[in-house]
Amino acid sequence: MTGAGVATSILAVMALLLGAGSVALAQATGDTASAGQAAAVSTTGEQTYREICQACHMANAEGGQGAGVVPALAANAHLADRQFVLDRVTHGKGGMPAFAEMLSAEQTAGVIGYVRTHFGNSYTDAVTPADVKRVTAAMGGD
Ligand code: HEC
Repeated sequence: MTGAGVATSILAVMALLLGAGSVALAQATGDTASAGQAAAVSTTGEQTYREICQACHMANAEGGQGAGVVPALAANAHLADRQFVLDRVTHGKGGMPAFAEMLSAEQTAGVIGYVRTHFGNSYTDAVTPADVKRVTAAMGGD
């Protein structure tokens, strides 16, 4: 790995830690095209995926094994259930961080839409920012 590659990896890790709080990073990828602008507020679902989710679920969404097992999002039938995905991304579970307070409703809806319509998934019944707000409001802001 080149020096620049190492620096890119460190940036990616830092972006994740900054974005995801105290989450232990299972894996980082040195292949983060957007790392140079990692501190920017992401505006599209793809950007959010690249800046946050990819570090664990990997660039191709195949998941992997580092400190723990990260499931593939690619061709994952669980993603057919929009409520399941919404719940998992906002509440987290195990090694999956809860993003309710880290991402805006728009970012959450965007990244959910992105993973549900990419990587071999084609679930087009969109999750809207209003759906996200309903779920996070019900969490009662802990
Ligand atoms: C720190 C690592 C990490 C990050 C960052 C992360 N995930 Fe996860 N994710 C996990 C782990 C680990 C699981 C498995 C949780 C379990 O079921 O125990 C998971 C599970 C999931 C699941 C459920 C998959 C299934 O079949 O059960 C979805 C959907 C998901 N993640 C989406 C996302 C999205 C979208 C993002 C970005 C906003 C993201 N994840 C960021 C680690 C991560």
